[in-house]
Amino acid sequence: MNTEQPLALLGGLTPSQFMKRHWQKKPLLVRNAIPAFVPCVGRADLVALACEEGVESRLIVHSPNGWKMKHGPFTKRSLPPFSQKKWTFLVQGVDLHHDGVHALLQQFRFVPDARLDDVMISYATDGGGVGPHFDSYDVFLLQAHGQRRWRIGRNKDLTLQTGVPLKILKNFEAEDEFVLNPGDMLYLPPKYAHDGVAEGECMTWSIGFRAPQEGELARELLLGLADEAFDGLGNALYRDPKQVAVSSPAAIPPSLAGFARQVVDKALTNPQLLDSLLGEYLTEPKAHVWFESVEAVADLSGGVQLDRGTKMMYDDRHVFINGESFKVGRRDALVLRQLADVRCLTGQEFKTLSADAKESLVDWAASGWLQAK
Ligand code: SIN
Ligand code: CO
Repeated sequence: MNTEQPLALLGGLTPSQFMKRHWQKKPLLVRNAIPAFVPCVGRADLVALACEEGVESRLIVHSPNGWKMKHGPFTKRSLPPFSQKKWTFLVQGVDLHHDGVHALLQQFRFVPDARLDDVMISYATDGGGVGPHFDSYDVFLLQAHGQRRWRIGRNKDLTLQTGVPLKILKNFEAEDEFVLNPGDMLYLPPKYAHDGVAEGECMTWSIGFRAPQEGELARELLLGLADEAFDGLGNALYRDPKQVAVSSPAAIPPSLAGFARQVVDKALTNPQLLDSLLGEYLTEPKAHVWFESVEAVADLSGGVQLDRGTKMMYDDRHVFINGESFKVGRRDALVLRQLADVRCLTGQEFKTLSADAKESLVDWAASGWLQAK
C-alpha cells in the first residue's frame, strides 16, 4: 500500500499522517469514509451467523431492570422481536465468513497484520447499544446501516459499575458527540471512553486491533522457550567437585543457584528462537477458525490465494503461516513475503519458487490454508 497517498477512508490524510497524528493518540471522525457504502452483510445474514456454532456472538438487552447479556449461538426465536427497542447483538470475526468484509479489512492494512484482530458487526434496534465503556484496543467504528449517536470522552476515571454483566463505566463524561450516517467512521484509540446508541435500526462494523499484553506474551514465549530448552540444552548434570562439607544441610548451595541462573540465561540467549516463537504465536489461528483440508490439491501453477482465515507474516529470517515457521532461501523468501503482503501470487510468481517451496504450498493447499486461483 502507498502510505503517502491521501485516502478518503482517513478523511484525506495519508496513512503515514494518520499513524503519526491519531493512531494510539486521539480520535478521528471521518464523514463519508466510504462514500455510498453498501454493506454486504444485512440483518438476516448477521442473524444467521449468530445462530452458527463456532461463531462468537453476544446479545445485550437494556430494560428498566438493567442490562442483560447472553452469549450465542442463538436461535432466531431466542432473539427479541425487531419491534422491541434497546437491544443489540454483536458478532465477532465476520471477516472470516464473508469475502466482502474480508476485502474491506484489506483497506486497513497500513497497520501491521500483527496488530489486526477482526471485524465485529453489531445490529441494534432503536436505543440499543452496549453502554458507556472503553476498549483496550484501537478501533475503527464504521457506520454501515442507519444512524448511531456516539458520545466520547477522555474519562480519567475508568471505574466500572459493579453487579452488571457488562463492562460499563460508573461515571461517564462525554466531551464530544456525533451522529454517524452510513459510510461515516470514527477511530478511537485504546481506553477512550465511548457510548454508541442506535437512532432507529442500526448496524455498525468495528474494525478492531489487538495488542499483546506484557504478561501474556511473556508467558507464551517462555512456554515455547521451555520446550526448546528441555530438548535443546542437553542433559549435562550440575557438578560440584568443590562442594565443602556443610553443617547446615538444608541451605541451598550458592553454586547451585548460580547453575540455575546460567541454564536460564542459556535458554534465553537465542534471539532467532525468540523471533520464530513470536511469529508462530502471532500467526496462530484463532480458536474459532478451522480450515477445510482437501484430498486432491488443484493445480497451483495459475497462481494462489490465501484463505480468509490464514495468517501469514514474516521477519528477516522466517516465514510464518498459521502458527508454523519456515526458514527459506533468499529467492523463495522474496516470493513468499509477496504472498504474505498481497495474500496472493500470480502463476508467474509461483513458477519462480524452488521445488521445495512449491511443495510447501501444495501442503498448505491440502490443509486448506490457500487455494488455487
Ligand atoms: C457496538 O457496535 O455497538 C459496539 C462497538 C463498541 O462500542 O466498541
Ligand atoms: Co467499544
